[in-house]
Amino acid sequence: MSQPRPETIQAALRFALRAPSVHNSQPWRWHFAAGALHLYADRARHLPATDPEQRALLLSCGAALHHALVALAALGWGSEVTYTPDPRDRDHLATVRLARRAPTSVDICLAAAILVRRSDRRRFANGQVPQRYLAAAVDYAGRFGAQVRPVEDAARGRLGELMRVATEQHAEDALYQVELASWSGRRAGLDGVPARNATPVRAEDGLPIREFADPVLVDAAGDADAAQWLLVCTDRDDHTARLRAGETLSALLLAATDLRLGTCVQTEPLGVPALREEIRFALCDSSYPQAMVRAGWMRISAAPLAETPRRDLAEVFTGDAPALDDGVASARP
Ligand SMILES: Cc1cc2nc3c(=O)[nH]c(=O)nc-3n(C[C@H](O)[C@H](O)[C@H](O)COP(=O)(O)O)c2cc1C
Repeated sequence: MSQPRPETIQAALRFALRAPSVHNSQPWRWHFAAGALHLYADRARHLPATDPEQRALLLSCGAALHHALVALAALGWGSEVTYTPDPRDRDHLATVRLARRAPTSVDICLAAAILVRRSDRRRFANGQVPQRYLAAAVDYAGRFGAQVRPVEDAARGRLGELMRVATEQHAEDALYQVELASWSGRRAGLDGVPARNATPVRAEDGLPIREFADPVLVDAAGDADAAQWLLVCTDRDDHTARLRAGETLSALLLAATDLRLGTCVQTEPLGVPALREEIRFALCDSSYPQAMVRAGWMRISAAPLAETPRRDLAEVFTGDAPALDDGVASARP
């Protein structure tokens, strides 16, 4: 059976590096050997005050896995995933085996979306996106093991209250504030959320978003936010369910990007276990909330957002490979 060349794996993983992750912490490692690609969690990049249960860490790894599978599909490789392949090693999240498969136009569009997706925290001020328009993205994402539910108008008020409680609790939490300051604003480097990608607090918005350090990205005066909010939920709340929720999240973001929608993940209240429980029963019919997504149309006149930085592939990849500084660099997204 034919196997992908190491160069192909590296090209796909350069796309996977572009995956969203909590505070842009990039908590993943990859290994390629004997024709199989392995994904590991990098627990050294865990954010204990923001993500006490390591849920967002696993979601971030799931998003990277989906990004890798999309890129491999576009490069002509179908994949079969085994989750938690070694029960004795909880950091070994998935093994991917590959087989030749012709790419579809969907594979190519989604891989292209990886290159242009950004977390856009500005107000979506160009009218509210109808649910039926979002339905294609929601349907596609629903194939990856978690459900995507729109936040109904009647539930927005309650969600907004819970989000404000999270903001207030975190404002008083010194460890949270230190962690935030070291992962955003001027301290951001090859990881973290740069100041240019963060907006100042918008206390008047019904659904407040997470605040980062030194925000310099501003909305046009007078804009009101017309974002649609979506919830990614799972029936179980174990390790694999969280990883699958990350794949679903990535699928939703890429499909929405392909529809020219702006998106941004939001998880602040889900990092407070008691508030997560409230959201579970108030908005998710007792399934487990894993992440929320804002989606909308950005003003046509809005400036394009700069992409956030990423660490080099050599920092997160080991295994069968040509030297990482060879001609493969030309495949860099
Ligand atoms: C699990 C997870 C949780 C996230 N939580 C938030 C959040 O609460 N607020 C926010 O503004 N962005 C959040 N993000 C978005 C990240 O900050 C963003 O992906 C990262 O900074 C990289 O930037 P990019 O998405 O523009 O590539 C989250 C992303 C993931 C995957």
